[in-house]
Amino acid sequence: MSTWANLGLQDSASPLMEQLIFFHDHALLILVMITVLVGYLMFMLFFNTYINRFLLHGQLIEMIWTILPAIILLFIALPSLRLLYLLDEINEPSVTLKSIGHQWYWSYEYSDFNDIEFDSYMIPTNELSNDGFRLLDVDNRIVLPMNSQIRILVTAADVIHSWTIPALGVKVDGTPGRLNQTNFFMNRPGLFYGQCSEICGANHSFMPIVIESVPVNYFIKWISNNINSSL
Ligand code: CUA
Repeated sequence: MSTWANLGLQDSASPLMEQLIFFHDHALLILVMITVLVGYLMFMLFFNTYINRFLLHGQLIEMIWTILPAIILLFIALPSLRLLYLLDEINEPSVTLKSIGHQWYWSYEYSDFNDIEFDSYMIPTNELSNDGFRLLDVDNRIVLPMNSQIRILVTAADVIHSWTIPALGVKVDGTPGRLNQTNFFMNRPGLFYGQCSEICGANHSFMPIVIESVPVNYFIKWISNNINSSL
């Protein structure tokens, strides 16, 4: 979860998010080097008197400063494509969770198991417990096993919503009439918070997402306790 003064990315809870953070740092480093170089060149232009009345063209330097940026861009484009295709890979998921966006709450279905489905509403500030997180906690959390491939199916019932969890590197739009798919793998236990990130109406800010990442045996216990119930 993000706390105040945390302006960067959250700590990753999945291998793909870790790779996304590495890629972000890599791209940022290239950006800083270009900015410093161009900034230096522009700055120095103000402090010299290099003038050549007969200079009309410079084929060589034109070649260099056209091809060099293209090569630099390749160093961003290729890792970016690698990640893009890695993010879409489905690795034989062991659990499937269906998330349906509503104005303004999420509802969930564990279709692998007998009829487990429930709504998940934000807890209003005046009903929040002392250890709760304001605008972020929900009444019914998603419980999912860690160290397992999990498939997420996202859709919406009314307008477009977006199921977004920064620590897992997941961000999928829920669109009425469509079923979008993504997957993730949680490599540590914990609570992972997310929010809707598609401007979906008056209470868009108030439909958070909470995942409880638990060991597999706890997950099985949770499932068997809730089978055939709507929480
Ligand atoms: Cu749902 Cu914004």
